[in-house]
Amino acid sequence: MVRSHSLVLFFGLAGLASVSAHKEPKTEAEIETQRALQRAAYYCAPAVGEFTAARKRAWRQQVLAGLPLNQAAFAPTAGNPSLPTNDELFASGTFESEAQPSSRAQQELLACDVVEDETEMQNNTCVLTPIVTEGPYYHKMGHPIRQNIADYQIGLLTYLDIGVIDVNTCKPLPNVLVDIWQANATGHYAGHPDPAPHLKDEQPQVGGKRAGLLSAFPRTNYHEQWLRGAWKTDSHGIARFTTIFPGYYTGRATHVHAKVFTSWTENPNGTFDGHKLAHVGQFFFEDELNLQIDKMWPYVENPIRDIRGRTRNWRDSLNIFEDSHGPEGEYNPIFKMHLLGGVINQGLVGFITMGVNASYDLDNWWKG
Ligand SMILES: *[C@@H]1O[C@H](CO)[C@@H](O)[C@H](O)[C@H]1NC(C)=O
Ligand SMILES: *[C@@H]1O[C@H](CO)[C@@H](O)[C@H](O)[C@H]1NC(C)=O
Ligand SMILES: *[C@@H]1O[C@H](CO)[C@@H](O)[C@H](O)[C@H]1NC(C)=O
Ligand SMILES: *[C@@H]1O[C@H](CO)[C@@H](O)[C@H](O)[C@H]1NC(C)=O
Repeated sequence: MVRSHSLVLFFGLAGLASVSAHKEPKTEAEIETQRALQRAAYYCAPAVGEFTAARKRAWRQQVLAGLPLNQAAFAPTAGNPSLPTNDELFASGTFESEAQPSSRAQQELLACDVVEDETEMQNNTCVLTPIVTEGPYYHKMGHPIRQNIADYQIGLLTYLDIGVIDVNTCKPLPNVLVDIWQANATGHYAGHPDPAPHLKDEQPQVGGKRAGLLSAFPRTNYHEQWLRGAWKTDSHGIARFTTIFPGYYTGRATHVHAKVFTSWTENPNGTFDGHKLAHVGQFFFEDELNLQIDKMWPYVENPIRDIRGRTRNWRDSLNIFEDSHGPEGEYNPIFKMHLLGGVINQGLVGFITMGVNASYDLDNWWKG
């Protein structure tokens, strides 16, 4: 039942061929399978070229509904009105144009027979997701409870599907608050637009613990909340967000921060106060995907592009990327990404699962 709906996903994988570490086919059967996939890709290419918002929605309904976790995960009709589509988020023409799909193309598309999808909850066999620094850009107060954190930040539409399991039971953890925050497409956090005036010309630290980093930009815009938000996991332990792909800044690999609260109170203004914090961590993306997105507007306008450039995952400051894999490397902190449509411009969806210890009660404050 999955197969006929998996085309887009297959193209997603094909499009990210350089990203997802594809296994080289070895046996004759594997080679034959790959050839068949290539033929399918060739045959379906014209249809794929016609992807539209309507089809994307249909795809989300069909493919992602293959998830045993939730029906039609991202479909606006499935009780997720706060998850907008690309065209609702951005001015028309910003990304892909949205022509009506021809039903013939649609049929051809769905007739293509391709690989299994991978929309199951990722499960690193129930390991504890490493706790790493929350960094200097968390706002203890003022994180809104909302699924769409993109606000009016321009960038590549990215859905994040974050699963939480409790390592004490290895079962999904419903009703916990997943709080995320990230930089915008050109590497800034809401509220922190500029370096402190006397550090305007600061150079990244050479050597020492903070090698490669600049001093944190101070919080000067107290009202800004973009690219920050928290959402409660559903009965399957999943919290979904709409955001943009994050940009990079000096010394850091591209990342998304996350906290998990097992107890909190909602404020009348839509923000929350966290009480019991079970997890603080960071998630990453494959470097090849980062490099691909670096070439897209507005990511090309990153102010440090021609000065220091992006920090690759393996050069991440403070060892955060490495530490995020855990002491024995048993955890994978990298989002598993798929294309939403036929081309990357139409957006991405990323899946990750955190293993948290719901008994933890961490201190919700950065100490530098
Ligand atoms: C994750 O994997 C472990 C070990 O295989 C299993 O016991 C557990 O039920 C799985 N949890 C989920 C949420 O799939
Ligand atoms: C929202 O309400 C809380 C609690 O009353 C307050 O601390 C916070 O500053 C308010 N945030 C915003 C953005 O208004
Ligand atoms: C979770 O944390 C509690 C309290 O610190 C501890 O007793 C328990 O062993 C932890 N569970 C796991 C699976 O690490
Ligand atoms: C990111 O945020 C900074 C600081 O507010 C802003 O100057 C910049 O224009 C934003 N980037 C994009 C692509 O909007």
